Amino acid sequence: MPLTEVEKIWMNGKLIDWADAKVHVLTHALHYGSGVFEGLRCYNAKKGPAVFRLVDHMERFLDSAKIYFMDLPYTIEQLCEGAREVVRVNKLKECYIRPIAFRGYGEMGLNPLNAVIDVAIAAWPWGTYLGEEGLETGIRVKISSYERINANVMPPAAKATGQYINSILAKIESLKAGYDEALMLDNRGMVSEGPGENIFMVKEGFLYTPPEHASILPGITRDSIIHLAGDLNIPACITDIDRGMLLTADELFFTGTAAEVTPIREVDGIGIGKPGPITKKLQKKFFEAAKGKDKKHEDWIDYV
Ligand SMILES: Cc1ncc(COP(=O)(O)O)c(C=O)c1O
Repeated sequence: MPLTEVEKIWMNGKLIDWADAKVHVLTHALHYGSGVFEGLRCYNAKKGPAVFRLVDHMERFLDSAKIYFMDLPYTIEQLCEGAREVVRVNKLKECYIRPIAFRGYGEMGLNPLNAVIDVAIAAWPWGTYLGEEGLETGIRVKISSYERINANVMPPAAKATGQYINSILAKIESLKAGYDEALMLDNRGMVSEGPGENIFMVKEGFLYTPPEHASILPGITRDSIIHLAGDLNIPACITDIDRGMLLTADELFFTGTAAEVTPIREVDGIGIGKPGPITKKLQKKFFEAAKGKDKKHEDWIDYV
C-alpha cells in the first residue's frame, strides 16, 4: 500500500523530518530481520484524536524486544508520549502508528548482541487495510500451503520483523490465487491466524477463536472483541478450530489493528455468506469503543 507522507518522525528520541528518517544499507536488521515493531491506530474520537489501547501495544512492543534480547533505551512512558507526539505534530486525526526498534549500523553477522538499537515511531494516514468494501461485504480467503511459524521455530507471540517473511509468503500466495487474504494453519493443522490478523468464527450463537498455543500473535483487537462479546452477552470460547469447523461456520471474521473487524465471506471457494448479525454487532461495538463512544471502555483510548 503506498505511503502518505507527513512531516515528522520520532527517531531515537527526537522529532526529525520525514525525509531524514533514514538508515544505512548495512543496518543489521535489514539483513537479518532483527527488529521488533508494533502497529496502532488513532481514531478521531469524541474529544479529538485518540490512540486505541496505547499502553497495551507498547507493553507488547517491550515484550517482543525482551524475547529478542533487545534492551530498549526508552521507558514505556517515553514510547507512549512519542506515539502521541507524532500524531500531534503531524496534525493527524486518524492514522496508523508504527513503532519499530531495530539492530542498527556497525555490526554484521549473526551475533546481534553488540549492535546498536535504534527506535523510531512513525504515523501516517492509512485507510482500511482490506478495503472499505471488504469491511462491509466481507473478503475471500485462501487457506495457505505455508504453515504458521510455531514457538519452536520463532515465537509467534513476538512481533519481530523477520517473522513476517512467513506472513508475506502466505499473503502473496493468496493474492496470486485471486483471493484477498490468506489463512494459516499451525503445525498441527489447526486454524491459526491470517498473515496479520486473528480469526473468529460464529456457530449457533457461540463465538470461537483459536488459543495462543495455535501459534497466534495474541492480538489486542482479539482481546477487545472477547471483552465486547461479553458486554453483548455473546458466549465466547477460546478453543482449537479445525478445518471442518471453519468451513461450516455460520460467520467468520478477521480482527487486527490494520484489518479492524473484517468479515470473511468465502474460504477456498466455499461460501460462508454475507456478514452475519454477530459479526456486524461486534464490528459496530468495536468502532464505538475505538472512537470513545463506549463508556465502559473509555480507558481503552488515549487522547493525544
Ligand atoms: C500475525 C498477526 N496476528 C494478529 C494481529 C492482530 O493483532 P492486533 O489486534 O494487536 O493488531 C497482527 C497485527 O498486529 C499480526 O501481525
